[in-house]
Amino acid sequence: MKHIVAIYPGSFDPVTNGHLDLINRGCKLFDNLIVAVAQNPDKGGSLFSVDERVEMLKAMTAQIDNVTVDAFEGLLMNYCIEKNANAVLRGIRAVSDYEFELQMALMNRKIEPRVETVFMMPAEKYSYLSSRIVREIASFGGPLTGLVPDMVEEHLHRRIAERRSAAFAIPSK
Ligand code: PNS
Repeated sequence: MKHIVAIYPGSFDPVTNGHLDLINRGCKLFDNLIVAVAQNPDKGGSLFSVDERVEMLKAMTAQIDNVTVDAFEGLLMNYCIEKNANAVLRGIRAVSDYEFELQMALMNRKIEPRVETVFMMPAEKYSYLSSRIVREIASFGGPLTGLVPDMVEEHLHRRIAERRSAAFAIPSK
């Protein structure tokens, strides 16, 4: 039997219950699942550092034996080769995700045909959930119950309070 190593890449800024739902599905399908936080210099304006995102993911997946968490820089396909991965896992929540995901999957296949992209659907209750919308709700003090784990919610409130007090700080001469 072939040993399938899959990479689940993403920004995870922060990890949501939708991501965790996909990780729980993926770890049943693959022998090893590496959740990989992308160090994406193009995507400015992140709320959490890559290290913080990795730590949150590690805490949330510690009980799953075949899941590890890592960070990567540069091309995803280079990282897949480095890790001897055969597959990339991506979530599709709605038809609107499909166009971008298809483009990315086909481009990745052109770069490295040995790696297959596998799409999985999270539970319907997470179909409208994204890290971006979680950051926005948190920034306005809205309810996050059921959207992110409690620990992530605490981190979000703390980070937003820090950002707010930094924005209102009177610069010293
Ligand atoms: O959670 P996201 O932001 O939708 O994840 C996007 C991610 C990190 C998977 C994508 O931007 C990526 O793979 N970045 C690494 C650079 C790369 O390989 N780009 C070419 C993709 S075709």
